[in-house]
Amino acid sequence: MLTLTLLGLSIGLVANAFPTQNSGNGKNWVVIVAGSKGWHNYRHQADACHAYQIVHKNGIPDEQIVVMMYDDLATNEQNLTPGVVINRPNGTNVYKGVPKDYTRNAVTPDNFLAVLKGDSASTKQGSGKVLKSGPNDHVFVYISARGAPGLLAFPNDELYADDLLDVIIYMHKNKTYKKMVFYIDACDSGSMMTKLPDDINVYATTATNSYACYYDEKRKTYLGDWYSVNWMENSDVEDLSKETLMRQFKVVQSQTRHVMQFGNKTLANMKVKAFQGNANARPAPPMTLQPVLEPGLIPSPDVPMAILNRTYSSAVALYLNKLRSHLKGIEQLKQKMQKVVQCVTGDNRENPKILSVKMDRLQQQCYKDAVSHYKKHCFSWFFPEHEYYLRDLYTLFNLCGSGYRTDWYCIHLIPPSFYTSPQRFRSIQFLFRKFHIFRIEDNWK
Ligand SMILES: *[C@@H]1O[C@H](CO)[C@@H](O)[C@H](O)[C@H]1NC(C)=O
Ligand SMILES: *[C@@H]1O[C@H](CO)[C@@H](O)[C@H](O)[C@H]1NC(C)=O
Ligand SMILES: *[C@@H]1O[C@H](CO)[C@@H](O)[C@H](O)[C@H]1NC(C)=O
Ligand SMILES: *[C@@H]1O[C@H](CO)[C@@H](O)[C@H](O)[C@H]1NC(C)=O
Repeated sequence: MLTLTLLGLSIGLVANAFPTQNSGNGKNWVVIVAGSKGWHNYRHQADACHAYQIVHKNGIPDEQIVVMMYDDLATNEQNLTPGVVINRPNGTNVYKGVPKDYTRNAVTPDNFLAVLKGDSASTKQGSGKVLKSGPNDHVFVYISARGAPGLLAFPNDELYADDLLDVIIYMHKNKTYKKMVFYIDACDSGSMMTKLPDDINVYATTATNSYACYYDEKRKTYLGDWYSVNWMENSDVEDLSKETLMRQFKVVQSQTRHVMQFGNKTLANMKVKAFQGNANARPAPPMTLQPVLEPGLIPSPDVPMAILNRTYSSAVALYLNKLRSHLKGIEQLKQKMQKVVQCVTGDNRENPKILSVKMDRLQQQCYKDAVSHYKKHCFSWFFPEHEYYLRDLYTLFNLCGSGYRTDWYCIHLIPPSFYTSPQRFRSIQFLFRKFHIFRIEDNWK
């Protein structure tokens, strides 16, 4: 008897501690904001687009989703894949189908607050889409932006913590939600929520320090923010009708450490689907994501400098690569020229002199023939690394001046593939006959 009472009691407690999972007859509404513009801030809009894909594939219709983003990525001149925005290395296009409710200069704190209040008349320049949620509805708000104590940066303006709090309280009084969840990824975003009451059915998690992640060498920018990609990749790989907000929070916390929770934390026992999905629709099937081994985290405020540094480093790496191959080309030319001299003179003691000093005996015709022969068959000084070879032409000049014939000696330097063409083979035979070559066997190798 006693045991049964205890059991009943604990069931009651548990039921109380785990609020209803769906919003009854209610709908789920979503507001997504990317608070920046410009290619170097790519990640915020990429996060926002990705968030849209999550709530979209989990069945929330577009009329219940409001997206605010500057929308300067898809057509950006730095975008090598126009129309495509990704949020992880080799990721899928998250830009596809994203509603353009508030773009460019319509991404303002005023419009954002009007959207939350359901005050379409006060919005400016956007689609006018606002929350039309009621007392049975759930609202999920996700913001990815830059931040500072007590404020979030929008593209041209700031959203202050007290203004946001006023609107949340207004919504509560106006009964425009049953439960509401905020995810905010920005530096100091915790400071946006420190005064959030715990008795108005709002739960919020924030990044304390925001880290950019997933630097893309090709795009020369960071693809995501670490807090954001962690919750979103968790939503991608989990069954949202089983995963809870609490577990999602723990996943993000284990990766980023600097996260905080505010408001009524009991709400965290609810399923993710109650905010990121449609109560009456099946959740999207869990995806498999290739782990990214090195996320390359960098504190948000350092991002512009980190991009500069990385652009510089990769330019240096490219330069060193080109320089190396250029030097190698020069070295090969020098070696070839040495072989020519060795071959022409037959290991003569004069070789060092021929290779190093400019002599003054001119054999005009021999020199002309040699130059034209080498240019045609051996090196072309139209290639950048052969340019250098012009400097070594005095070697031919010297050979002629010392009475050597030179114009066939590049034959043994010709790669084997050269001989595969019968036409070329005939032209070599012709050269052999013309210049009475004795050392065919040697040179042939
Ligand atoms: C709630 O919002 C509606 C529409 O904006 C407005 O008519 C109503 O007066 C508000 N109610 C409260 C209690 O603020
Ligand atoms: C927090 O939310 C739970 C579940 O909805 C609710 O039972 C509880 O009363 C709320 N706490 C406060 C202080 O409002
Ligand atoms: C992305 O794709 C490229 C080429 O297919 C591959 O080399 C690279 O490892 C991939 N990166 C990740 C993080 O999957
Ligand atoms: C960028 O490079 C400079 C100069 O080497 C260095 O002082 C700075 O710490 C680097 N910053 C980042 C964010 O990589």
